Amino acid sequence: MRLERPWWQSAVIYQIYPRSFQDTTGDGIGDLEGIRRRLDHLLWLGVDAIWISPFYPSPMVDFGYDISDYTDVDPRFGDLASFDRLLAEAHDRELRIILDLVPNHTSDRHPWFVESRGDRASERRDWYLWRDPGPDGGPPNNWMSEFGGSAWTLDEGTGQYYYHAFAPEQPDLNWRNEKVREAMFDVMRFWLDRRVDGFRVDVMWHLLKDAQFRDNPPNPEYVEGAMSPYRKVIPAYSTDQPEVHDVVAQMRAVLEEYDERLMIGEIYLPVDRLIDYYGKDGEGAHLPFNFHLLSTPWAARELEAMIDRYEGALPDHGWPNWVLGNHDQPRIASRVGPAQARVAAMLLMTLRGTPTIYYGDEVGMRDVEIPPERAVDVRETTVPGQGLGRDPQRTPMRWDRTAHGGFTEGQPWLPVGTDADEGSVEAQRADPHSMLSLYRALLALRRNEPALAIGSYAPLPATGSILAYAREHRGRRLAVVLNVSAEPDTWRLPEQLHGASLLLSSSGRPGSIPAQGELRVDGDTGLLLALPTRQA
Ligand code: GLC
Repeated sequence: MRLERPWWQSAVIYQIYPRSFQDTTGDGIGDLEGIRRRLDHLLWLGVDAIWISPFYPSPMVDFGYDISDYTDVDPRFGDLASFDRLLAEAHDRELRIILDLVPNHTSDRHPWFVESRGDRASERRDWYLWRDPGPDGGPPNNWMSEFGGSAWTLDEGTGQYYYHAFAPEQPDLNWRNEKVREAMFDVMRFWLDRRVDGFRVDVMWHLLKDAQFRDNPPNPEYVEGAMSPYRKVIPAYSTDQPEVHDVVAQMRAVLEEYDERLMIGEIYLPVDRLIDYYGKDGEGAHLPFNFHLLSTPWAARELEAMIDRYEGALPDHGWPNWVLGNHDQPRIASRVGPAQARVAAMLLMTLRGTPTIYYGDEVGMRDVEIPPERAVDVRETTVPGQGLGRDPQRTPMRWDRTAHGGFTEGQPWLPVGTDADEGSVEAQRADPHSMLSLYRALLALRRNEPALAIGSYAPLPATGSILAYAREHRGRRLAVVLNVSAEPDTWRLPEQLHGASLLLSSSGRPGSIPAQGELRVDGDTGLLLALPTRQA
C-alpha cells in the first residue's frame, strides 16, 4: 500500500554487518556480492531499506569504522562495480540502500592524516585535533577514549598530541575547519550521485568538541572495574556541543540537493538531548536513532514511561524511530531471552515510527560466546574480560543447516552459533510458528495496515506486566497488548475496545478475546487486536 509520505516514514530498515552476512569468496568474511545474492531473502521478509555498515578500504582496526578511503570499496568486500551491481539490483526490487558515513574520524592511514601528522606546517595539520602536551608533559586534558585510556596520543615526531574519541588508529577530524566540511560533503555527493538512498551518520553527537578543550567533569557514579573506563568522566565538553547542529544542518542541506534521501544519526543521548538532533523543521537528521529500548529495563511500567516520554518530547515535525539491536549492543534474544524476544519483535514492529532490524534478529540469533583467543574486537582487546567486546553480537548469519550455517565455505572470521539448526533461515522458513515467520507476518501487517505504519499512538491503561497501546488511522483502530514477563497476566479491556477481535498473536495460538471484561494474556505473549473500521 503506498502512502503519501516520505518513503522512510513507513519503511522498515534492516541493518547488515557486511563481514557477517554472506561470504562468496571463501575467505570467511562476508562481501557485497553475498548481500546481492541474499536480496531475495530481504524482499521475502518484507523490509524496505538496507543499511550496510562500512565496506570502504580500511586497516580494520575497528572493522571498517576506521576508513582510509571514503570513495572506494575494500577489496575484502568487493569493488565499486560490485557495489553498483548490488545497488541496481536492490533498486530493481524497490529496496533502498543506506550507507554508513563515518565523518568524525578517519583511519590513521588515511592520506589526510598521514600528511597532517608528517609536519606541523602541513596544510592538513589543522584537519585533525592537535594540541601541545599539558603542563606535566602528559595529555592536554582528561578526555577519555570510548575504547578505554586517554583520548590523546602523543606523536613523537612532531611533539604534539592528537585526539581520538575511539582507538588511537582513529584520529578525529577537526569539524571547525571549513575544508574538512567541504571534503566530507563531497564524499556524500560521491555516493548520492551513485544513487544511494541515504546515510546513517556514525557518532553524530561526537562531531564537535569544546573549542577550548576544557576538562570533562569527573563522574561521581563511576565504579572502577565495573564500568567502561570511558565513564570515568562525564563527556560534557567532548560531545554534544551546541555547534554540532550547524554541521548537521549543513549535511542535511547536501541531502536536500537530491530528492528523498534519508539521514539517520547515531546518537546515544537522553531523550531531551536526542530530540535536538531533529533540528528546526527540515534542518536536522530525519531520524536521530532512538536507542532507548536498548537501555530501558525490560519491565512494563519502565518501557511505558520511556515510550511516553519519547513520544511526548518529539517536535511536531519529528518522526519517531526504534531500534532493538545493532553491532555495538548485546543481542535482544540474549538480553530478554528467546521467548520474550518474540514480544520484543512485536513491540518494535507496532510502535509508531520507523523500526530498524539488526540482521539475524529475525531468526532470534543470540550472542555467541567467543573464546578469549578468538576475540578480535578492539573494545575487547583494549579492555579485556569486562564484557565490553562486541564480537558476540557480530557472528555470522545463519542461513541453513550446513557447516558454518551456509555463511561461508571457508573458515568464518568469528564462530557461528552452535544452535545453528533451529536458528537458521532455512529451518525457520518451513515453520509457521518460528521467529522468522512471526517477523514476516508483522512486516506484512505493517505494509497492509496504515494504522501500524503511520497511525497515531496512544497509551492504554495497564497494570502488572502488561504494556498496552492503541494505533489508529482514519477510523481503523488497533490495540497492542504485550505481556513482557514469562508469567500470565490479565488486562481489563477498556470500553473503547469492547468487541475487538484478534488479528495476530505472537505465540501463534488462536486464543479467544472476550467481548468485554478481562483478557488473559499468556506469559511471553503479545496480542494485536482490531476493532471493526469506523468511518472517519
Ligand atoms: C559507532 C559504531 C561503532 C564504532 C564507533 C567508532 O559507534 O557503531 O561500531 O566502533 O562508532 O567509529
